[in-house]
Amino acid sequence: MTSCRICGGRLHEFGDFGTQPLSSGFLEPDYIGDEYLFRLALGVCDSCTMVQLMEEVPRHLMFNGHYPYLSSGSSVMRKHFERTAQDFLRTELTAPGAFAVELGCNDGIMLRALADAGVRHLGVEPSESVADIARRLGIRVTTEFFQASTAREIREAEGPAKLIYAANTLCHIPYMESIFQGIDALLAPDGVFVFEDPYLADIVEKTSYDQIYDEHYYFFSVTSVAAMAERFGFELVGVERLPVHGGEVRYTLARRGRRTPAPAVAQLLAEEKTRRLAEFDTLQGFFRNVERSRDELVSLLRKLKAEGCTVVGYGATAKSATVTNYCGIGPETVSFISDTTPNKQGRLTPGAHIPVRPRAAFEDPYPDYALLFAWNHAEEIIAKETRFRESGGKWILYVPHVRVV
Ligand code: SAH
Ligand code: TYD
Ligand code: ZN
Repeated sequence: MTSCRICGGRLHEFGDFGTQPLSSGFLEPDYIGDEYLFRLALGVCDSCTMVQLMEEVPRHLMFNGHYPYLSSGSSVMRKHFERTAQDFLRTELTAPGAFAVELGCNDGIMLRALADAGVRHLGVEPSESVADIARRLGIRVTTEFFQASTAREIREAEGPAKLIYAANTLCHIPYMESIFQGIDALLAPDGVFVFEDPYLADIVEKTSYDQIYDEHYYFFSVTSVAAMAERFGFELVGVERLPVHGGEVRYTLARRGRRTPAPAVAQLLAEEKTRRLAEFDTLQGFFRNVERSRDELVSLLRKLKAEGCTVVGYGATAKSATVTNYCGIGPETVSFISDTTPNKQGRLTPGAHIPVRPRAAFEDPYPDYALLFAWNHAEEIIAKETRFRESGGKWILYVPHVRVV
């Protein structure tokens, strides 16, 4: 890819993580054969400033009947989406019969509250493994990739949507023109398209480079989203910074001229300009910090190993694929990763081939150190794992910098 997926402008590459596997491609322990590999590299568009992957993995290799990620695995995220649903019920979904659509509803973490409130809704979720879980909760889900054709079919069958929502999903979709054609076809004239994704400014500031993996094609900023909205006939009318997943922004888009943009939009645009967020030298500086972070983590783990300490991983996140493969961390360094997701347990992590074991393995016995790959859930996890610390165990964190706590 040498041109921008949004505007066709020139992409300037600023970071290369080398060859990487599918981040959710957990392997059977007896797996032999070649894993799918691609070059994980980042570029920025010199025209619309969108930061994006240079190469892309075909969507059906990632989102299918084996997709393991379950949104409801974190109690903080369950609360976050419950609150989100309650906000929508109070604001966008007050009219009788209002119709809400969610892209990438996963196991129904948000839609369950709308279903409970009796709101007409539809989830669009291509990964059958997770869509089935939502359906069993009584949520209406169609197992499809959202795109222009899907949107037109939904509009035909169900009428216009007052709300189209996507959490941690829009950045997973490369073909944005088709998405916006679909939003245009499906959204009611006064409806809103709301999405939330990891925020480029948080990634740069915290050196949270593990947000960069196959599924995340885009690293949005307010500047690039405003340009994208305008290009496709919409307007950015609201932004809200969110503390989840290491720092995100929730963007609200309306049809052009339908709503007055909130002051926060101009404020964040100005802030991004002042900090030169999407400038090439800022992003090159970010990548130097990434290399430094990698070197510090590798030397810490080497030192602990030389001292004979035991180290395990906590949370077999998609993010951890980038860290383990970029830093060259394998089972000789991190003997296993504890994870609560049934479809990850008993398997090997992609590329690095570290065994994934259920939570019970973590305390059997506790290791000396636990490398917290699910650092975005640090507060929740450290709070519930108090006995680990009491047993003398220590956490290794690498965001925003490498440290032991
Ligand atoms: N909204 C949930 C899930 C995020 S994971 C949360 O915030 O926790 C991203 C989800 O997007 C996955 O479940 C994946 O199957 C889905 N997805 C990927 N491509 C999609 C597309 N084109 N349309 C709709 N959903 C998609
Ligand atoms: P997450 O960081 O939400 O996303 P991603 O995979 O996209 O990087 O993934 C959290 C992972 O950590 C998930 O596999 C479940 C696991 N987990 C635990 O094992 N224990 C916990 O207490 C929590 C909150 C998550
Ligand atoms: Zn562009």
